[in-house]
Amino acid sequence: MTLAARPWLEQIAPYRPGRHAASADGSLASNESAIGASPSIIAAVTAAAQRSQFYPDPLADELRSELAALHGVDPDQILVGNGSDELIFLLALAYLTGGGHVVCADPAYRIDEISTVVVGGRLTQVPLKDWTHDLQTMATVEADIAYVVNPHNPTGTVRSHADIEQFARESRAGLIVVDEAYIDFTDDPAARTAMDLVATGRVAVLRTFSKVHGLAGLRVGYLVAPLEVIATLRKIRAPFSVGVLAQSAAVAALRHPEHRDAVVGHTVRVRTEVAGLFERAGYEVVESQANFVLVVAPDEQDLVERLYTHGVSVRPGSSLGLPGTVRVSVPSDRGLELLDHALAGDLHVPALSGR
Ligand SMILES: Cc1ncc(COP(=O)(O)O)c(C=O)c1O
Repeated sequence: MTLAARPWLEQIAPYRPGRHAASADGSLASNESAIGASPSIIAAVTAAAQRSQFYPDPLADELRSELAALHGVDPDQILVGNGSDELIFLLALAYLTGGGHVVCADPAYRIDEISTVVVGGRLTQVPLKDWTHDLQTMATVEADIAYVVNPHNPTGTVRSHADIEQFARESRAGLIVVDEAYIDFTDDPAARTAMDLVATGRVAVLRTFSKVHGLAGLRVGYLVAPLEVIATLRKIRAPFSVGVLAQSAAVAALRHPEHRDAVVGHTVRVRTEVAGLFERAGYEVVESQANFVLVVAPDEQDLVERLYTHGVSVRPGSSLGLPGTVRVSVPSDRGLELLDHALAGDLHVPALSGR
């Protein structure tokens, strides 16, 4: 028999990660932490490496009990994954295989789109309105899953808790998944977590340790959902997908919240400075509540290449479904200096740390 991939897979353009610049400080294309993991996380990972010969705890019990206490939910409402991306793929496998339907924004987080198409599902994408989710229109779509990314990637905009609550009441979707990868970075009091809405039985919340905790390289995220959703996903997941180092790092991150607080403080301060730099250079900037800002740039390709030449990589909006924009992750203080010089076209950039 001739081997043939499923024909619908041809629609999928392979995921293209952001490009690195010559230095870590100048690499602003992937919304990674500008500060990195805390010393207590590094110590926990180093200690956990001693247990490398053992399979990890399949359900990450220690981590789940910390998370359950943090969010005030039953540990059985939590599934830990190899990054939240794994959990998005599990949702697709369980609820969309063979023709399921997703409603999400246009643009959406790429993995929400890819995971749906991979299992033969169908997407309805609703264009943003004023750079935010058009929840009113999304609510009218009958779908198995509605994805709401709050704050939204790549714009950084938020919908208020009241808006999400109303959406959860009115949406015709079977399950509303609120992806809160960037929720830690919000300073708008209206933009609270939707974690309390999980109790309605219609809402699930996705979180990641990749952003505020600086663990993108270790791969750990989690889903808080109604019990029956977690029970279903548990049946189909690979049992050892979250490694020993990732589990230890995540537990250490939760036990040392002061590092998280410092990262949030840095991000909120530098986000404003980044916006100011671009505005002074003549660009419009979308108001962001995340660890990146979206710059309206009719000269997208030109700007991307110009900054790259000066040691700064940013993400072209056309690769994120928003041509005519660039997305810039919040940098370290040294990265901010580099960005300032790059925008000014100054080749005499300050000395930088290596990658
Ligand atoms: C909206 C959103 N969700 C999820 C993720 C992925 O998180 P993880 O690293 O946990 O897979 C990202 C990463 O950029 C993201 O932007």
